[in-house]
Amino acid sequence: MFVSDCYNVNEKGHLTISGCDTVELAEKYGTALYVMSEDEIRSVCRRYKSSFEHHYNGKGTALYASKAFCCKEICRIVTEEGLDLDVVSGGELYTALAAGVDAKHIHFHGNNKTMQELRYALESGVGDIVVDNLNELHRIEKLSAEKGVVTSISMRIKPGIDAHTHEFIRTGQIDSKFGFALENGEAFEAVKEAVACENVELIGLHCHIGSQIFDKAPFVLAAQVMLKFYNKIHTELGKTLTHLNLGGGFGVKYKEADAAVPYEDYMSDVSEAVHAACKEYGIQVPYIYIEPGRSIVCEAGLTLYTVGDIKTIPNVRTYVAIDGGMYENPRYALYQSDYTCLIANKANEPADFTATIAGKCCESGDLIQENTLIQKPEVSDILAVLSTGAYNYSMASNYNRNTRPPVVMVRGGESRVIIKGETYEDLVRNDV
Ligand code: LLP
Repeated sequence: MFVSDCYNVNEKGHLTISGCDTVELAEKYGTALYVMSEDEIRSVCRRYKSSFEHHYNGKGTALYASKAFCCKEICRIVTEEGLDLDVVSGGELYTALAAGVDAKHIHFHGNNKTMQELRYALESGVGDIVVDNLNELHRIEKLSAEKGVVTSISMRIKPGIDAHTHEFIRTGQIDSKFGFALENGEAFEAVKEAVACENVELIGLHCHIGSQIFDKAPFVLAAQVMLKFYNKIHTELGKTLTHLNLGGGFGVKYKEADAAVPYEDYMSDVSEAVHAACKEYGIQVPYIYIEPGRSIVCEAGLTLYTVGDIKTIPNVRTYVAIDGGMYENPRYALYQSDYTCLIANKANEPADFTATIAGKCCESGDLIQENTLIQKPEVSDILAVLSTGAYNYSMASNYNRNTRPPVVMVRGGESRVIIKGETYEDLVRNDV
């Protein structure tokens, strides 16, 4: 009935998440409220982990792309489950270190890391830095030489696969700000330079072909393209790399009808392609990384709101106004993304009322969903929006000086706050 197994309906007809009654959570913590299921997050981590055991004999690791949802507790949870972390800014790195994550298990990405961020990464001793461009390579070489260290790096490659078209395409030239292009020799020249550097050690290659991808084929193709290049480096430069990072991007369910592929199926198809290519080239299977963000946390999260007003415009639509909006979930305003909405205190009733869910920001585009079917709404009902665990909190803002809601983690019927809600004092903290 729901997008994920962590959701259910109890005897009162209330929506539950991991055994917690969402109406009670709304009463206890107030709304707007982000709620995340620790059980669900841990279960997805375990699925990835056991896939690595199964398909790569344990010689691989999933890195949690922390941009999807970053705070100390999530860093603790995923690393406890044996995942590494992908960070893309000094702020994400700081959060991971503050959570007590061993720097060796942190991988630093980003297309324009500042000098300050690079220094911070080197001083912290991160596992590796994924280099995006030659200027960055030179900066890392210089900083490493100054420090007298050798820094492990991987290089971000554009494999020339656009998975974001209706039917994914293999493009000769991909328009992306990330990484080195394969088709014009840029990547190969950059690898040569990296191999010649004294204070960096090129250990692997990285690619990421997009996000919320439902098809297995582009991942398989990306693996094949990357291994071909991996082998070219081996044969033409005599340099044997050891690591291959195939990125994240596995699709999740926002609506029940979304045809999400089980993560194990991606893993199985990609590993077949990896093993076949390595056999063909006569090389050892590299240590494989993948980098899921959304699929670890998205379906595990929901947001609860209180309905404040219902405004029917005859023959046009009905706006259901909630005590949140684009400041805590900008994804509809940005991407017109789908969500499943329901009235949490009427979860057993038929969803036959067409509503447009409107936020409280002074902006007409501040909508969470348009013309979506929910149970008949009344003022003071609790509205739940499902699958908000990824890229909601992490992309939230203080627009209109709204305070970011707290995040509550639930596990086996128990709840606890993992990020406090902001206060008005927080809003003026840095004002001078
Ligand atoms: N690795 C790299 C290098 C990435 O750029 C990303 C996402 C990931 C891994 C994780 O991808 P995932 O498994 O989460 O799909 N704000 C957008 C999503 C942007 C994704 C950016 N990169 C949204 O709300 O849909």
